[in-house]
Amino acid sequence: MKSDLIQWIELDRSALNHNLRQFRSLIGKRRKLLAMVKANAYGHGMLETARMAVAGEADWLGVHSFEEGVALRDAGLLDPVLVVGYVPLAGLEEAVRQDLRFVVYNRETVLRLDKICQKLDKQAYLHLKVETGTYRQGIEHKTLIALAKGIRSSSCLVLEGISSHFANIEDTTDHSYARFQLKNFQENLTLLDDAGIQVPLKHMSCSAAAMLFPKTHFDMVRVGIGLYGLWPSRETYVSCLMKKKVPIRLRPVLNWKSRIAQLKTVPSGAFIGYGCTYRVTRRTRLALVPVGYYDGYPRDLSNVAHVLTKGQRAPLRGRVAMNYFAIDVTDIPGVKLEEEVVLLGRMDQDELTAETMAGWAGTINYEIVARINPEIPRIVK
Ligand SMILES: Cc1ncc(COP(=O)(O)O)c(C=O)c1O
Repeated sequence: MKSDLIQWIELDRSALNHNLRQFRSLIGKRRKLLAMVKANAYGHGMLETARMAVAGEADWLGVHSFEEGVALRDAGLLDPVLVVGYVPLAGLEEAVRQDLRFVVYNRETVLRLDKICQKLDKQAYLHLKVETGTYRQGIEHKTLIALAKGIRSSSCLVLEGISSHFANIEDTTDHSYARFQLKNFQENLTLLDDAGIQVPLKHMSCSAAAMLFPKTHFDMVRVGIGLYGLWPSRETYVSCLMKKKVPIRLRPVLNWKSRIAQLKTVPSGAFIGYGCTYRVTRRTRLALVPVGYYDGYPRDLSNVAHVLTKGQRAPLRGRVAMNYFAIDVTDIPGVKLEEEVVLLGRMDQDELTAETMAGWAGTINYEIVARINPEIPRIVK
């Protein structure tokens, strides 16, 4: 590892490829696999991840914002990119120029896209998003056909897809609401069919849906968390077992590492860090880790978490500050300045998972990884 880095993220290419192959084995060769690389690829590094994904099994890339899509194009990625978030009307022209695909759910966007495409003499590929019960983006039943016809009446807009998103598939082992949403989606498909409108790509499956419900695979699945080797939730894993499915084996892709910036011995009774929230009860060997909440290490982990160094667990002492936290290495002999520390990931026989950190912080694994500061160097191994 480059010795001038004080913290970095290592990405395991073989783990990412392995995870992609697991999803490919679930969905077969005929369907498209969209790698969701929004939110800086769930904190993993968007460009690094996108390059690996399309060199592997991924057919499409998914982003939230058109700026993310433009960044992919600027990096030379020419694969199909679907923007799943809202593109401001003023951003549509640039997005069309960059051949991004759009999820659409309002007339204004469609009308503006039509004008832009006429002007540029270009086509744009649109995916209708239908409301099935998440009440986020999406159009209602009653406006579906009018919008679909509006798109079809344009000489330069192509109605390429129809999509929806599940609200309650990860958080529960009771999937009645997911089934209700699937039924709503199917009703939308029937409406289109009855109106004689063909849409080649139907998609509503996220990682959990891809794992649990083959019926949701349709023509494309949009895989996020699973791609990174993380389970959507414990409930998803349990649901697999309840359905007597053999759970796919996922391998975490991300390792977050740092180096010790100072070592010192403090007397028994010393207070550690801001707010004096921890007081040592013995002469203690403390090590300073130059990572803080600015980097995405949750402040909620103050006095709670441990990290790995020399293959052993070292507990956090005191508060996580903006750029630092302290660990107790009294019982870990031989720790020296710039000793490697694993904040998230594997060291020797031990592993610190995003789920463990999420449990400590009272959140979900998605948030732990997605909030890792994009400025930290990502290194593909
Ligand atoms: C529209 C859409 N599709 C797919 C995904 C991927 O979901 P997951 O990370 O659970 O696979 C997301 C993530 O939030 C999403 O917003």
